[in-house]
Amino acid sequence: MIIHGGAPLRGVVELSGSKNATLPIMMAAVLTDEPVVIRNVPRLRDVKTAIELLGGLGVAARWLGDHELELHARALSGHEAPYDLVKTMRASFVVLGPLLARAGRARVSTPGGCAIGARPVNLHIAGVRALGARVQMRHGYVEAHAARLIGARIWLDNPSVGATENILMAAVRARGRTVIENAAREPEVRDLARMLAAMGARIAGAGTHVIEVEGVDRLHGADHAVIPDRIEAGSLMAATVATGGDVIIRGAPAGDLEAVVAKLAEAGAEISPVADGLRIARNGPLRPIELRTLPYPGFPTDLQAQMMALLTQADGASVITETIFENRFMHAQELIRMGADIVMKGATAVVRGPSRLSGAPVMATDLRASMGLIVAGLAAENTTTVSRVYHLDRGYEALDRKLGALGARIERAADE
Ligand code: EPZ
Repeated sequence: MIIHGGAPLRGVVELSGSKNATLPIMMAAVLTDEPVVIRNVPRLRDVKTAIELLGGLGVAARWLGDHELELHARALSGHEAPYDLVKTMRASFVVLGPLLARAGRARVSTPGGCAIGARPVNLHIAGVRALGARVQMRHGYVEAHAARLIGARIWLDNPSVGATENILMAAVRARGRTVIENAAREPEVRDLARMLAAMGARIAGAGTHVIEVEGVDRLHGADHAVIPDRIEAGSLMAATVATGGDVIIRGAPAGDLEAVVAKLAEAGAEISPVADGLRIARNGPLRPIELRTLPYPGFPTDLQAQMMALLTQADGASVITETIFENRFMHAQELIRMGADIVMKGATAVVRGPSRLSGAPVMATDLRASMGLIVAGLAAENTTTVSRVYHLDRGYEALDRKLGALGARIERAADE
């Protein structure tokens, strides 16, 4: 992605559907032999990967419109999620729960390490074990069997999003009652629960620390619209503030963005609700802030890189602490190459600004780090070239088109 920086973003932009809500919702299609229709599905590389994964299980996928996807798991023809797919997209691992619930067996590759941290799946496995599945690890795969899952009380050591989703999808068809304690409260978990409820599941408490599920024998088809992407919203907000712009973000879910709005406002952004979204602008200098990533409703780790890029423009020292993933400061070295002043020690980074960022060739290491580099490139002088743009295509729909429409000078190099 080639960016000629310095242009303030201005105008109106429409959000896409949430990637991290869409992926588990797609996996939920496995739970019924009837078709499900999912609306507001973002056209992303990860969605393609999920379609491929489901295809391997015998789930038919058909686009009904640009963003409307029908999935139909009439009869499953397989029960395996192969290494080749799981290693490219960790969210594949949440097919374990629905497969077990529907087919009584699942063979799912473990994802292995990740650029941002170790990201183990022990809580997912402990969860399905608690529901009565026999689980073995063999040849890099989790092999799980259960003639019928049985409801249980499950305490999560930490409120893992993926483990909550996996256990939830296993529990909806288990015999009896399941209680997930210390569950993830993320809006994406809530959206999955809404989809499952539309399919006939009986769930209470999604969006709180305790989710209760009363298992049912059968789930049916459903029609569900995915929530807007709060991380895309936060990314565009950071880009707007970094460039001193003024943008209306249509569809921005204000209720899901409270921590983000609070921190951006503390840094000096002006944010106001408008019909169907938020307006964000920056008119004066930025103030430094302290920021700590936390599980929802805390500040999301998926916006930490974008905030770091933005805070290079604040007048003073900001302190960022990453508490979710052990290795999520990979973008900092690239920002330093663009002229940022960042010192890291363990999970904390001190960002001193304001720095005059100058365009440079930089390399993306993961999805959100890439977005951080785009934010920096938009604020920098001259030209920034962000390589390994395939990371961005995994999770941001038409990013170059959306930013271009807001006045950014951004283009995609032909060979990407
Ligand atoms: C989800 O990942 C998101 N992915 C991530 O977004 C996001 O960063 C993360 O939640 C945190 O919000 C999807 O929704 C597809 P976790 P997930 O399990 O579910 C530890 C993006 O860029 N843990 O909540 O994998 C883990 O190591 C991606 O869109 C265990 O110890 O995250 C981490 O420290 C990146 N054992 C913490 O929990 C487990 O079994 C939170 O991870 C599982 C997790």
